[in-house]
Amino acid sequence: MQTIEVHGKIFEISITEDKIQKRVAELRKLIHKKFEGKNPVFIGVLNGSFIFMSDLVKGYPGDCEMDFIKVSSYEGMETTGEVKELMGLKTDIQGRDIILVEDIVDTGLTLESLISKMKSYLPSSISIVSLLFKPEKCQADFNIDFLGFEIPNEFVIGYGLDFDGSVRNLKHIYRLQES
Ligand code: IMP
Repeated sequence: MQTIEVHGKIFEISITEDKIQKRVAELRKLIHKKFEGKNPVFIGVLNGSFIFMSDLVKGYPGDCEMDFIKVSSYEGMETTGEVKELMGLKTDIQGRDIILVEDIVDTGLTLESLISKMKSYLPSSISIVSLLFKPEKCQADFNIDFLGFEIPNEFVIGYGLDFDGSVRNLKHIYRLQES
């Protein structure tokens, strides 16, 4: 088993690059099937989604637009923070079909808060795509329309996901090895 050490902790491969790419291509097809003939706006939630978003939209076979937002939460609330601010959304999404692109839904609270903020801009529809989902941790009440992989409640890194700012550049997704 190929392992790597990051900040003194050992990680092992959880989802290979090949498996990720195959699933991302399937998600692209499913999204296109739903939005064929329309012009949806993909909105990547930074920072973690940037690699997934890029692979997802590359070769999308229909009309679409793209934008990114950066979410900031109240300090000290970790991933359970309420979304304080949306930075960077330039597109007027009123009356548009928007597709929020997330790397991972953990507690789900970030996305839940984001969805409620987005609704105030009166889009025509909001769809959610997430590469990863930890069902055991999720406390939020929304549907993930397009999901890459369900994973157990474990810390994962790579393919955009960081560990204290590092290792977003890894091609595979790795999980923390149990000690
Ligand atoms: P939530 O509000 O708990 O769903 O948090 C979502 C955010 O927490 C994600 O967009 C990630 O940035 C971060 N996160 C949650 N789980 C992990 C993980 O296993 N590895 C890296 N980042 C994670």
